[in-house]
Amino acid sequence: MSAATSAPLLAVRDLAVSFHTPYGVVRAVDGVGFDLAPGEFMGLVGESGSGKTVTCRAMLGLLPNGRGRVDGGTALFEGVDLLRMDDEGLRRVRGRRIGMVFQNPTSHLDPVMSIGEQIGEVVRLHHGLAAGAARVRAVELLRGVRMPDPETRIDSYAHQLSGGMRQRAMIAMALAGGPALLVADEPTTALDVTVQAQILRLLLDLRDSQGLAIVLVTHDLGIVLETCNTVAVMYAGRIVERGPAATVLAAPRHPYTIGLLGSRPGAFPRRERLAAIPGQPPGPGALPTGCAFAPRCGHAEARCAAAAPTLRAVGDGRWVACVREGWS
Ligand SMILES: Nc1ncnc2c1ncn2[C@@H]1O[C@H](COP(=O)(O)OP(=O)(O)OP(=O)(O)O)[C@@H](O)[C@H]1O
Ligand SMILES: [Mg+2]
Repeated sequence: MSAATSAPLLAVRDLAVSFHTPYGVVRAVDGVGFDLAPGEFMGLVGESGSGKTVTCRAMLGLLPNGRGRVDGGTALFEGVDLLRMDDEGLRRVRGRRIGMVFQNPTSHLDPVMSIGEQIGEVVRLHHGLAAGAARVRAVELLRGVRMPDPETRIDSYAHQLSGGMRQRAMIAMALAGGPALLVADEPTTALDVTVQAQILRLLLDLRDSQGLAIVLVTHDLGIVLETCNTVAVMYAGRIVERGPAATVLAAPRHPYTIGLLGSRPGAFPRRERLAAIPGQPPGPGALPTGCAFAPRCGHAEARCAAAAPTLRAVGDGRWVACVREGWS
């Protein structure tokens, strides 16, 4: 599919988020921007603490109350800026047009309601179905996410399900409103490899059958290669490279992406490999003035310390934030 030819479903620009902590203000996300086309499957990768979760949560109005704050930017979804919506509007969009799946389904499923009651509630709320019809729809949704024996499982409680089944239930709930976008923050990290592969297959099928756009946060570049159309690589709160997944992973251009992919010849690494990059990412609040990666970069020059390069189009559908890409 060609992500570039259709109008974006989601257009994020200059997203900046900070946290107010006892140690001061921490800029967690700084100038993040990307477009997501309908039916596009985008991987969001980067080291722990690079701002992947904060980016997703900020767009959805789900930053921790009173601590995280959106300092600027826009996130146009179906033409409306999510960052300027009131709580009521956001709740409606989140239940209906945007579904969410997180790493730990247990903390997002109600322990005292059956799976069917929870999915049924979403269906009733957003589609005004009566209880009987909502139950029928809930079974359909569970079948759609390949829950084994959905007619029986619908009456189960979260603790009675395996990790994989809980994640399927969570995905069914996320789909209950009929979303155009699914935001999945490490949805398979807690699952074993076989179940992980099944869940990813399911996400791919949903994209293909329903034209669902997906943002998938993952640490696994093998998963990106196998499932994503596009990829955005984050470092210290910024996107340093983005573009078609196959292109970026086959021939990374930002020194950080190159390091992330490691120097292993042959097959793509199954896991993030950072051994090749000496040093540590900067602590938040201690971001250097210039390029945040410069202190770890083998190609750093004097000008890298002067100003942080922004993303620039470098052809082949790719954007790179590095002075080596024609910056002066
Ligand atoms: N509740 C919070 N309070 C203060 N700072 C926070 C909070 N949540 C996130 N941050 C800051 O935002 C930065 C980005 O965090 P985020 O959770 O987005 O990282 P991530 O890329 O999702 O990492 P991981 O791969 O470990 O999930 C962190 O380094 C941290 O400094
Ligand atoms: Mg995270």
